[in-house]
Amino acid sequence: MATVRGGGDILVLHGPNLNLLGRREPATYGTASLEEINADLKTLADKEGYALRVFQSNHEGELVDLIQSHGPQVAGTVINAAAFTHTSIALRDAFLGVGTPVVEVHISNVHRREEFRRHSYIADIAVGQVTGFGAASYRLGLAGLIDHLRHRGA
Ligand code: DQA
Repeated sequence: MATVRGGGDILVLHGPNLNLLGRREPATYGTASLEEINADLKTLADKEGYALRVFQSNHEGELVDLIQSHGPQVAGTVINAAAFTHTSIALRDAFLGVGTPVVEVHISNVHRREEFRRHSYIADIAVGQVTGFGAASYRLGLAGLIDHLRHRGA
């Protein structure tokens, strides 16, 4: 069988308040805008032969709907669930429901911040978590997901 470079589509989800990136608490989240982060991800995805489906929402139910509708069609998901990381059993259950691999990313190092940010409802069902590398966390998370898909199966 021929080696297939690309593996289809990857879902990228940004949770609440991430539409404000670039202006929001720059000392914590840096100055890159969401558009710049998405462009960086697209560059990597293009190089690796994947297509991205990218969404941002401030609404938990909308994120659940996106996971339900796109999740079964994509090879995997990269998500920064932002504050919902620490609160949302619904997002966890949506990922368990669709069963495709998920990588959790955070711009800040959530383990060096307030106690309530240390718990994630997604981390233990994720392939892995990338946290604390600034905007680069997204690129590292996408690279990790692609490596997982190529070498360790879906
Ligand atoms: C965040 C960390 C979360 O605790 C916070 O609620 C966010 C952003 C991050 O990317 O560092 O909104 O997910």
